Amino acid sequence: MSIRRLRISQLRNIRQAELELGRVNLLSGPNGSGKTSVLEAVFVLGSGRSFRAARLDPVIHHDASQFTVFASLQGEGNDGAPIAIGVSRSRDGNFAGRIQGQAIRNSAELARRLPLQLINSDTFDLLVGGPKVRRQFLDWGVFHVEHGFHRTWLDVHRCLRQRNALLRHDRIPAVELEIWNSQLVESAAQLDEMRQHYFDAFHPIFLQTLRELLSLDGLELAYQRGWDRGRSLEAVLAEQIEKDRVRGFTQSGPHRADVRVRLRGINAAEVLSRGQQKLVGAAMKLAQGRLFSARQGRDCVFLVDDLPSELDRVHRRQLCQLLGGMRCQVLLSCVDASELSGCWDGLAANEMKLFHVEHGALSAAK
Ligand SMILES: Nc1ncnc2c1ncn2[C@@H]1O[C@H](COP(=O)(O)OP(=O)(O)OP(=O)(O)O)[C@@H](O)[C@H]1O
Ligand SMILES: [Mg+2]
Repeated sequence: MSIRRLRISQLRNIRQAELELGRVNLLSGPNGSGKTSVLEAVFVLGSGRSFRAARLDPVIHHDASQFTVFASLQGEGNDGAPIAIGVSRSRDGNFAGRIQGQAIRNSAELARRLPLQLINSDTFDLLVGGPKVRRQFLDWGVFHVEHGFHRTWLDVHRCLRQRNALLRHDRIPAVELEIWNSQLVESAAQLDEMRQHYFDAFHPIFLQTLRELLSLDGLELAYQRGWDRGRSLEAVLAEQIEKDRVRGFTQSGPHRADVRVRLRGINAAEVLSRGQQKLVGAAMKLAQGRLFSARQGRDCVFLVDDLPSELDRVHRRQLCQLLGGMRCQVLLSCVDASELSGCWDGLAANEMKLFHVEHGALSAAK
């Protein structure tokens, strides 16, 4: 899967832009020119949200009433015909997405059609951030490879909402609590099994990818399901009911799952340098892309914002080599293309496209 043509209108400082993309696309230009905005546009197209704003209002050009992003995706339709996918968001809050002219029901449809992996300054959060970031990371993979994940995830969160509402009653109705407990236990077991299954496939690919990026012996990931390993969730919920009641929410369950990153048993965030953190995070994303391709027989699109930052020449090159060596499409940004010169050997000239970005205008560079 790759984006053949991309059209952006009234998004951040980009008034109008139309790009014919190649396999590896390098966007360069000065600070504030609009490089990240191009990646953001693709991200909105594949997820319905921005990676740097909680809401989509700030993403609309400040003089405009709505933004639109449109792409034609290569080889997605029957007999390999391109697929049209588009989104728009207006100031009145209306978000609309269309795939082949048909209105979408939810943004999961966008994600299925245009699976993305983002490597940017937030990638550090995979190590230094809270469990939520790593849980979302894990769930991206499970969503794409385990059939039924989305449904089960929704079930778990519906049970949790209901159970948490009951916990805030003065007197908890025992029968109702019992019902939601048992539904939660059942959906949680399914979710845990899917996550564990995915993680078991992911971990060796991650370790291999990491070895290709940097030498860092003793780094490992461990999946934690969100409640004690040796005990049933049923028993944990029963034991913690008083604490849950006092706090007004369920403290153990799959909503507390995590993927711990440890170097010889110590939290990796406490020992790794910034550059090492970025590379470990990038290895996690690359490994997820590799597993996705192996399972789905199609590829996700990689968005890499400000690739050179924090990385020395050797590791910039390693990362570019890995990205260049995958089949997947890559859009990456840097201030000056020369920062990545000499990083792409092995990549055929026709596989790479350079774009210059200046004041929100994009042009194909020579
Ligand atoms: N809603 C908006 N309307 C118009 N312009 C905006 C809006 N939001 C942000 N901008 C401007 O758009 C530009 C795009 O910024 P962007 O982050 O894409 O730049 P960049 O090329 O990635 O820069 P850097 O190299 O500093 O990361 C900035 O100059 C910013 O001030
Ligand atoms: Mg930027």
